[in-house]
Amino acid sequence: MTRALRLVVPLVALSVAWPNVASAAGGVRPLPASGFTERAGSVSVSGGRLVLRGRAAAGTAMSGTSFEAVSVRVRFAGRRCRGARAMAVVNGRARVLQPRRGSWRTYRLASAPSLRRRTFALRLRAGHRCRLLVRRPVLHLVAGRTFAPPAPRPSPAPVHTIELGAAIAWRNVSAIPGYADLFLRHFSHMTPENELKMNALQPRRDTFDFVEADRMVDWAVAGGKQVRGHTLVFKHQTPGWLTNPSLTDQLTGEGDLDRDKLLSIMRKHITTVMRHYAGRIREWDVVNEPLRPDGSYNPGIWLDTIGPEYVEEAFRSARAAVPDARLCLNEIGAEVPNRLADALFGLVERLKAQGLIDCVGFQMHVNAATPPALDALQSNLQRFATLGVDLHVTEMDVNVSQLPGGTAEKFAVQARIFGDAATACSRVPACTRFTTWGTTDASTWLGPEAQPLPFDDALAPKPAWAALQRGLAGG
Ligand code: XIL
Repeated sequence: MTRALRLVVPLVALSVAWPNVASAAGGVRPLPASGFTERAGSVSVSGGRLVLRGRAAAGTAMSGTSFEAVSVRVRFAGRRCRGARAMAVVNGRARVLQPRRGSWRTYRLASAPSLRRRTFALRLRAGHRCRLLVRRPVLHLVAGRTFAPPAPRPSPAPVHTIELGAAIAWRNVSAIPGYADLFLRHFSHMTPENELKMNALQPRRDTFDFVEADRMVDWAVAGGKQVRGHTLVFKHQTPGWLTNPSLTDQLTGEGDLDRDKLLSIMRKHITTVMRHYAGRIREWDVVNEPLRPDGSYNPGIWLDTIGPEYVEEAFRSARAAVPDARLCLNEIGAEVPNRLADALFGLVERLKAQGLIDCVGFQMHVNAATPPALDALQSNLQRFATLGVDLHVTEMDVNVSQLPGGTAEKFAVQARIFGDAATACSRVPACTRFTTWGTTDASTWLGPEAQPLPFDDALAPKPAWAALQRGLAGG
């Protein structure tokens, strides 16, 4: 049996006029002024009180019950009410009311029981001088049995927060009009493209130059952005004094670099740079690209001189330098299951077991002619998520230069690839960051033919931008 509950909305009265809104008169309290902004002058019921916008959805706005009827008391006020008409609309069905001037008339308006979503609106057609006063609306609520709350809508799984980042080149901030705004408007994280690399920060042995990097980091932080420290140990973009043996001899006067010397250079670099930015940069790519496509370690000065343990040593120094920093390993070509991803998985697993790593970066430099499949991206991320580390897409761009067809077709393919990568990230809760390697095609490390970014060279959004947003929202 259905028991009707009566909910009497506390003495609320309002005045609705159309097209102009008039205030309520003598002893009648209007709804908040903001409620009167709706031009149609319609009133709806929500949460047991009258408001001027929105709908009363059974089961939500009224806590599991819904109104089956509404009583309103209405009257006209004002001098020019001849010919004025008032209308009550319940669930879209209009009923003409005939309010009088001077005395209240009560109407009980029933809603159709079969409808799950119930709306109630009052409309007045009148001249400027005539006002409709509505007093003490009574909602006749019925317990959920008669009007069941709406069936839950099948909705995609809730998407966790994924922060959007971009790599920025500091010189472009002043060189390209609109570049700074584009970044500040759309992204919450900044990766300096080259400014934090070792050749930039330690151009001479033991001499650190933070001038430009400081400007850039401070600019981003002042703009409310988070900064990713990219990168502490990388085989490329090392200073000449380190990689050129004759220069090394000259500059250090210490003869060949041996394992211990390079270890101490590495530790000092990590410690000095991280401490310099402590409080401003929370997250570092401690080691960049340590592996090769076949899964072996990437040759270069670090591996060749120190041996594969340089990776672990670097993370150990970073952990000791700033214990609360987030430490990431960033890799290229490991975004889909392959030998490199397998080797990376093992390496991360070992680092994690020692408490040395917090996040893994997947660069995602994609050639649009050989795109990764959504399933492959997703299953790879899911596998890495089992390690209990955060996963970041760190450098995504999609080079379209090898695609056939015109620009529109190329950009459509590119949009799908960006969308797939973002969708994969949205489906794996551990994937919390999505960073593109640049913002606009006007400035990319891949050259103008590549057109690899979500904004074109005039800084206008490309199809990839919308696809990226859709993907991050769950695809
Ligand atoms: C690139 C920069 O974008 C270029 O400007 C620079 O000349 C070379 O390095 N993987 C990385 C990035 O981790 O550091 C690289 O950045 C791109 C590939």
